Amino acid sequence: MIRMIVSIFCFLGLSLMLNAQTNNVIMPGEIWPDNNGNPIQAHGGGIIKIGMLYYWYGEERRQGLDTNYRFVSCYSSANLASWKFEGDALKMADPDSLGSKWILERPKVFYNKKSKKYVMYLHVDGPVKGIQGGYSYARVGIAVSNKPAGPFKYVKTFRPLGHESRDIGQFIDDDGTAYLIFEDRPFGFRIAKLSADYMGLEKEMCLIKQPMEGGAIVHYKGLYYVLGSSLTGWDANPNRYATATSLEGPWSNFKDVALREKKTYGAQSSMLLKVVGTKTTTVIFIGDIWKPSTQWDSRYLWMPVEIGNGKLWLPQPQPWKLDINTGGHIINPPVVNKP
Ligand code: DGJ
Repeated sequence: MIRMIVSIFCFLGLSLMLNAQTNNVIMPGEIWPDNNGNPIQAHGGGIIKIGMLYYWYGEERRQGLDTNYRFVSCYSSANLASWKFEGDALKMADPDSLGSKWILERPKVFYNKKSKKYVMYLHVDGPVKGIQGGYSYARVGIAVSNKPAGPFKYVKTFRPLGHESRDIGQFIDDDGTAYLIFEDRPFGFRIAKLSADYMGLEKEMCLIKQPMEGGAIVHYKGLYYVLGSSLTGWDANPNRYATATSLEGPWSNFKDVALREKKTYGAQSSMLLKVVGTKTTTVIFIGDIWKPSTQWDSRYLWMPVEIGNGKLWLPQPQPWKLDINTGGHIINPPVVNKP
């Protein structure tokens, strides 16, 4: 009897999830199935738009992966709600003899129009003899591909502009200029412009003297908004933001993006994605809900933010639906039952 009740609930849960999926409703914190019905594995990710398609890259953390390698997944979508698994865009071996505990996190891909190359930035890390902790190497890695879904080929690791680098974030301004955000402990985090071929960094825009991970930026109505989390490992904390009229600053004081006690609803920022439509613009908070002991089950918090006049607010997560054409969104859309 109990078995039957559990099965009915599981079936109902799965049907609701798939129904939400077919209706293109985004369900923050829920399992997000791809076109094959598998939970999307694109943690600490980044998104770019090429033509009509969005590509979402992230840490591939499905169970059963060959532990000698680290993997970056790639998904594509025309509407940001239903995603097709394009495969593992990068399969990478330990680049610098860091040992079995080497780390690849937060992949970000930039498309270089001149070279027609896709350039992937990675946080490459691991233990270093004589230095305490597993994140001592503190470098950026680069891998390159001719196609968006890869295969990407590893090229090199380095310290951006000579600085330590841990969490990385990406920002592409409205004029197409590409920037890397990187955490340089204990100084804060830096925003730097990519070189013409994207194979390195050309110019530091600023150092924001604030301990911050999961750095993200959006340019909205003449203001830059920078967002990030505090340094609490995999645990959620109140994410904060600041604004400036130029990437070089000066930046305002940092403010909470949600009620402090909510700890960003258990999520950590990864990106702010701006969707400009024919009628309006939606800015989406893209964050990770980490589950450190079952990372394959880590979830995503995607939610439209309330933004404007220097204010950025992440409302209570709820199911929502984006209209990719108009740029508008509806929170808690009516449920449409498909036969
Ligand atoms: C917080 C970072 O944002 C994550 O990407 C990861 O590096 C964890 N720390 C590890 O504790």
